[in-house]
Amino acid sequence: MSPDLSRLFAAARAAQGRAYAPYSRFPVGAALLDESGALHAGCNVENAAYPVGTCAEAGAIAAMVASGGRRIAALLVLGPGPVLVTPCGACRQRLREFAGPAVRVHVADPAGLRAAFTVGALLPDSFGPDNLGAAPGGTDGG
Ligand code: THU
Repeated sequence: MSPDLSRLFAAARAAQGRAYAPYSRFPVGAALLDESGALHAGCNVENAAYPVGTCAEAGAIAAMVASGGRRIAALLVLGPGPVLVTPCGACRQRLREFAGPAVRVHVADPAGLRAAFTVGALLPDSFGPDNLGAAPGGTDGG
């Protein structure tokens, strides 16, 4: 495993350990590297009102944006195994906001890496910031 992947794996594993998933009992951690090499992690946070729960990827993206990052360089999502935990449809769109089509999304479980996809493969022909004439990761975020 490359040093970057090792960092992503360790951060996602640690975040998974802090997941709040009392309803699904399916803890997920996610970690991403931003354009400056900073690491951001998130976990799923469920809710008694089920649809209000949030995915690990959404938490990692929010952590990145809150600390000033604007572009995802790579992301790793880690589930309990043995099934692959590929990002849900909504999270594919969330990733698309901050990542170009070539960005890698790694899928892992506690035993190690399981698969890798590109954002473009996960969400082909997507609608993104450029469709609205906005620069991806632009500084006009308010
Ligand atoms: N979940 C994630 O956090 N990320 C994914 O990529 C797939 C699913 C969460 C949502 C919910 O809390 C639990 O896993 C079961 O769907």
